[in-house]
Amino acid sequence: MPQATFYFPKGFLWGTATAAHQVEGGNTNNNWYAWEQEGHVLPGHSSQIACDWWSGRWREDFDRAAEGGQNALRISVEWSRIQPTTDRWDEDALDHYRQMVRGLHQRGMQPMVTLHHFTDPLWLMETGGWENDEAVTHFEAYVRKVVAALKDYVALWCTINEPNVYASIGYVLGEFPPGKHDLGAAYRVMRNLVRGHAAAYHAIHELQPEARVGMAINYRGFRAAKPWFPPDRWVAALLSATYNDFFPQAASRGILRFFGRRESIPQAKNTQDYLGINYYTREKVAFHPLKPADLFSTRYYDPQAELSPTGFIANEPLGFFEAFKWGKQFNLPIIVTENGVEDPEDSLRRRYLIQHIHQMWRAVNFNFPIEGYFHWTLVDNFEWERGWTQRFGLWELDVETQARRKRPSADMYAQICRQNALSWETVKQFAPELLATLFPS
Ligand code: FCB
Repeated sequence: MPQATFYFPKGFLWGTATAAHQVEGGNTNNNWYAWEQEGHVLPGHSSQIACDWWSGRWREDFDRAAEGGQNALRISVEWSRIQPTTDRWDEDALDHYRQMVRGLHQRGMQPMVTLHHFTDPLWLMETGGWENDEAVTHFEAYVRKVVAALKDYVALWCTINEPNVYASIGYVLGEFPPGKHDLGAAYRVMRNLVRGHAAAYHAIHELQPEARVGMAINYRGFRAAKPWFPPDRWVAALLSATYNDFFPQAASRGILRFFGRRESIPQAKNTQDYLGINYYTREKVAFHPLKPADLFSTRYYDPQAELSPTGFIANEPLGFFEAFKWGKQFNLPIIVTENGVEDPEDSLRRRYLIQHIHQMWRAVNFNFPIEGYFHWTLVDNFEWERGWTQRFGLWELDVETQARRKRPSADMYAQICRQNALSWETVKQFAPELLATLFPS
């Protein structure tokens, strides 16, 4: 068996990804907290203290990331803290974030800052949220404020996290706030998210010409259940075009395409300096004539694939490679802004991580311009409507006591980050069952 080492390019970014509402605690002024109060989050699960970052525990968690060999960290800033009401900016909140991004530099980690990660201030939602065209102007004003405050420490920005999830889950499936089932509203939101992203892109570059700006798209693999059956292929392509392509295409061509509709948003053209990909899984898709609400499809995980404990994610590393192939069409550097798996016992995560990093290494060797990888996530966090039932952390969290305990995956990921490589020794130590497939004789 060859005892090989799979190296990554020099300067590759290795980090973890987090989001304000999921880690800070005490975020009571946004739509997600209201959604939780209305009983839409699993009973008994609350975002209330989260990982207690707002009281200062970010310091110890940043230490954990740095000691784990990470050279970058993705955080988000909470709009409802920075702009608690339409006419007020909270300088203390901005200062808090300034301390955090400075804290990353002090620990040798490059910050990537997301400006919008699912949550919206209550005052914005009261005026119709992103359905209202005015959201774009409000977002731009907020972005300008944040960038002016943090630009000495931050050069890598993500405008909006998973606009495709925000619009589809919030406005079509109704599981995220505002819980709508309204395709028309979804389109208005998508259109304004594109306009908001474009406005943010131009504003950031005006304030900080050297900045690099993009967004994070949730890429989901859709495979025809029966590849020889044209209706299955058609519906898989339709889903991918609507879900995966809409935002990056809009931000590259300045054109929105949605179920036969075509609209030009010229200011959105070429508004990405990199493509952010969040990849978790892929699924099979079969045509179903009686399910118009599901875009004429039935979707399911490959029965052969290993599932995460709550069945949320199927371990599909080849789908990660396909995500890069898909991403290549945009001719941009690629950053993996999220990838990970929920796994409280850490029995699947090591395998999942190694197999995904191996696929990323293959893609790098096909000269796909991949620049970095942010694992979701550092410490177990509040997983939206699923509360604390899903544990994505390299570190385990006891929510009551706030105690952290290291999972074996944290040590494994630290080896990968430090070596800038996936080595035979790492695989042997943490997932020996993969040796024969990864290092065939
Ligand atoms: C992504 C979200 C992130 C986290 C992971 C598990 O869709 O961007 O906040 O919840 O899923």
